[in-house]
This record gives sequence, C-alpha cells and structure tokens, in this order.
Amino acid sequence: MRPIAIALCATVVNGLSSVFAATSERAPEDELLGKLPEIFAKSAEHYKALDSAATPLMKDEQGEFRTPHGWRIGKGELDMRSIYWWTSGHFPGSLWYLYEATGDAFLKERATAWTEILAPVATYKDNHDVGFMMYCSYGNARRILKTDKYDALLMQTASTLCKRYHEGLGLIRSWGKTDEKANFLVIPDNLMNLELLEWAGSESKKEKGKGKKYGGVDFGKVAMSHADVTMKHHYRPDGGCYHVLDYDQETKQVKGIQRGQGASCETAWSRGQSWSIYGYTMMYRSTGHVRYLDFAKKLADFAIGHPNMPADGIPYWDYGAPGEERDSSAGSCMASALLELSQYVGGADRARYRAFAVKQLLALASPEYFSEGGEIGHFLLKHGVGHKPGKSEIDTPLDYGDYYFLEALLRFRELKAVARPAATVCRAPAAHHL
Ligand code: GLY
Repeated sequence: MRPIAIALCATVVNGLSSVFAATSERAPEDELLGKLPEIFAKSAEHYKALDSAATPLMKDEQGEFRTPHGWRIGKGELDMRSIYWWTSGHFPGSLWYLYEATGDAFLKERATAWTEILAPVATYKDNHDVGFMMYCSYGNARRILKTDKYDALLMQTASTLCKRYHEGLGLIRSWGKTDEKANFLVIPDNLMNLELLEWAGSESKKEKGKGKKYGGVDFGKVAMSHADVTMKHHYRPDGGCYHVLDYDQETKQVKGIQRGQGASCETAWSRGQSWSIYGYTMMYRSTGHVRYLDFAKKLADFAIGHPNMPADGIPYWDYGAPGEERDSSAGSCMASALLELSQYVGGADRARYRAFAVKQLLALASPEYFSEGGEIGHFLLKHGVGHKPGKSEIDTPLDYGDYYFLEALLRFRELKAVARPAATVCRAPAAHHL
C-alpha cells in the first residue's frame, strides 16, 4: 500500500535541503510531474470502461464472484478470475488509487462495490496471498475513507494467514495445503503479504486483548520471523533472488530450489526481485530495523546495476533472459518500492533510487507501455509477463502491473508536494517491535 507520511519523516532526518534532486535530475521529474494530470485522467477513463465491461461479468455461471484480472489478447476478451485468485484485490485497489488521484465519487462507489465482494477471502486458508487480496482492496479503503468498518475483516484475514505459519521453521507457507508434509514451499512474493500482518500487529497493540480475539497471534513477530528467515536463505550473495525454496520441516534446512516462474535456478526472476525490494523496504518502514533497509538497498542495487537491465529501466522478465519479453509489472512494482526506499537513505543513494524510479515511470507512461483506447481491454500497461515457463500470460496486461504503476505515481505526486514544511508531517517510523 501507499503510506507516505513516514517517508517524509526520513526526508527530514536526512536533511531538508536534499529533498530537491540535483538540477540535472530535475528535468525528468518535471516532465513526469507535468504529465501526471493527463496520466491520471486517462487511467480513470480506462478503468471506468473496464469497470463497465466487467460489471456484468462480476458473477460466473455458478453465481460466484470474480474480478477482472487481465485481457486475453488472442481472443480479445476479459480474463475474469475468482475472488480466491491471488490478484483479486488489485482491480479494486486500482480503483481506490484512481479515486485518490482524481476525487471522482463514481470511482469510490465502484471501488467499494468491487472491494466488498472479497469479504469471503478473510477466512480463505489455501493461499498465502490473502495479504495482497485484502490489503490492496480493504486496506486502501480503510486508509482513504479513514474508516474502521473493515478492521474486523482485516484482522480476521491476518489471523487466517497466520494459520500457514510454521513455528519451527519461522516461515509462512506460500504454496500448498497447510498440512502438506512432502514439501514446504516459500516464494519471495510472500513478503508482500507481510504488510497486512504488520498492520494487524500494530492494531493489536492499540487495544488490549484485541490480538487474543484473533487467535492470540503476535502478528508482528510472525512477519519479522518470515522476513528474517527469508533474508537468510532466499538470496544469493550478489542479492539476486531464487523463486521457490522447499524447506525440510524436520531438519529446517532448504532441501530444494525450484525455478518456479523464473528462467532457471541460477537467475533472478524479475518480479520476485521487485517484490523483495518492496517487501524489505516496507519491513523497514514498519519496524525501524536497519537490517531490512540495508537488505532492500542490496536487492535494489542488484537490479539497478544488473548488466541486463535495459536502458529504460523496465526489466526483462528474468534478469537472466536478456532480449526476451519485458515485464512491465516488475518495472512498476520496483518503481513504487524505489520511491519509498529513496526516502529512507541519504544523499547520492536517495537521488539514484528516485531518478531510477522516475525513469521507469516515464517509460511506463510512454506509448511503448501505456495503452491507448481499448487496445488491451482498457487495462493500462502493456507488456507484462505472468508465468513464462508455464507458457501463461506472456506479453500481456496484468492487473497488478497497473496497481503498482498507479501507486508509484501517487507516491511520486506526494513526494513532489514535500515543498511544504516537512516537519509538520513528520512521524518516526513505527517501532513497534524494536
Ligand atoms: N505472486 C505471483 C506472481 O508474482 O506471479
């Protein structure tokens, strides 16, 4: 999700004067800032058209709710997926962001409608992605509407997610049934689900006994343990990620590496790398622990400095697959993460991360990536890759690519508004488990 007030605090810590990028870096920022109104207006137009096409399809033949996930380019039809599909929160989340960007009440109404069909996900145990599903939708709703009416549902979801936690391993199981003995599969995507747990952990501390009501789980402890164990095993010394690790539940050792959605076990899958940069930046924001910040920087530096990173900053779908398809979703998620990360570091690093994110956003907003009219069913970004080794969703729009693109643009817009006295919005990083 998109907190920014905390980010502003780090800006103050690092010195107000450096809020402003060096003169040479200002031109791309000015260009992006100048384009924002048009990008948001066009995006809102696209999503209104998408909403209108998807609304009659909201229920499948069995009467089960579903949300728009993508566009089947070959068939020219919407790809509607069950609310239990891992991305069901992204379309409602994008509507929330567009409401935030434009203030258009119609978008709020549609965001609410698409969000509220996800309520059954709160008790869905078969997927670690309930964090994505519920926090991108209900989480944004509670933040933007400043309401607590969805809190019980979100707390319930956090408690459901923790049913996938293995105390001995200190990890949340990503894929598979909770009682699966043959394997224990973990992917870096899982870091994105920790934001919900971080929120639930801080909520539990506000009201005595609240945590107990939801299974007595220490949500923050679970999130930190998962982040720490993942940090230990899931990355190579150069900072590149594996996709799937299989843990032995007896010995607690990694017993297998699978390429998963990546090109091989030796290369870094681009979106997994972006999830990781985002996840550890979020963990630093939430806990204040510097080890997460340092790690996020290492992961970001791997991506930014990779010899196969294209000049426009939109990665190939795998860092080991130069010349193949780009993945715009890896680019948008990385841009959003870098904008936040840039606020927690000093001087040259801040300028470097911010400039890279701005470059990525300018590329994504260009006709090369940003769609015109209904060419991809009114989704925003072309050229996403879902699962190339599975021969699925190659060079296609993806709901989550759009979501992180809008999030990054909003983060950028808010960063540019920092010209006001930053001390008035300063808050220390929430240090609830320091
Ligand atoms: N979490 C699955 C993916 O990123 O494709």
